[in-house]
Amino acid sequence: MEPPSEKMGQIDLSVDMAGIHFENPFMLASGILDETGGSMVDIAEHGASSVVTKSLSLEPRKGHPNPCIVEMEWCVLNAMGLPNPGIAEYGKEVKEYREKVKKPIIASVFGSSIEEYAGAAAAVRRLGVDAVEINGSCPNAAGLGLQFGQDPDVVRELVKEVKGAAGIPVLFKLTPETGDILSLAEGAKQGGADGLVAVNTMRSMAVDISTRRPLLTNVYGGLSGPALKPIGLRCVHEIYTELGDGIPIIGVGGITTWEDAVEYLLAGALMVQIGTAVSYHGPSLFADLCSGLATYMEESGYSRIEDLRGSLRGCSR
Ligand code: DHB
Repeated sequence: MEPPSEKMGQIDLSVDMAGIHFENPFMLASGILDETGGSMVDIAEHGASSVVTKSLSLEPRKGHPNPCIVEMEWCVLNAMGLPNPGIAEYGKEVKEYREKVKKPIIASVFGSSIEEYAGAAAAVRRLGVDAVEINGSCPNAAGLGLQFGQDPDVVRELVKEVKGAAGIPVLFKLTPETGDILSLAEGAKQGGADGLVAVNTMRSMAVDISTRRPLLTNVYGGLSGPALKPIGLRCVHEIYTELGDGIPIIGVGGITTWEDAVEYLLAGALMVQIGTAVSYHGPSLFADLCSGLATYMEESGYSRIEDLRGSLRGCSR
């Protein structure tokens, strides 16, 4: 299939979000096929409007030993442990992407303190990325994520410091592991976030009954894939119902088909990220998503994403 363009017939798939222009609402999620500039170029050339890098820190990290991935029918558990070569070394991947593709690239960052997050944000800005995504919700590395993402006051402070250091748009990736996603979303907004990414993976576990041991060396891992979709949708809907157009939402969690993406848009997402499904279906998935969405919009009488977005706002419990 031909890579999609911004306009498919009368249908305009483009979206402006956080002051950045995207040719369609489909973004590569962090952590999937984003180890090298070459693989991110491939994703963009197959139709993704933009990519998010793997989560990066100032210093390199090895990550957890194998096995760190378990595949199941409706989900994948992973506990990679945030492996990455460090921001300086990863610079060459961003450079390659920049040279070959004229589409936005967003850097996912993490750290062990608010200062480290801010330092990482300043460093990725120097690499020339378009925006920062704060991974305030990695479920698998002690002291490197989740404890920054579950307290609204900490979220606000973290976003404020990162925003001050970055000088470019800042997105905050929310954990679904909370009893109050709205307060976390409000905290990020008050800190100055330009967008919310909902949701990250959820801590989970798998057991090998023959060895009577956990399947993952890390014991727990982040759950992604189709099983996460209903939870992601509920989070997006809750946030959009309360905050409306006050802050853009990027929906993520279990999107495999264009129908899944439409569900997220109706719930209130302006854009969506695709992760696990890309690891199964490859980069060509993006062209299928674009053409399926364009056909649906044409048949339903919508010409722009904004017209379709959020139709389910506030539908009552
Ligand atoms: C890892 C990080 C994440 O943010 C996530 O959602 C799942 C796994 C990791 O590197 O272990």
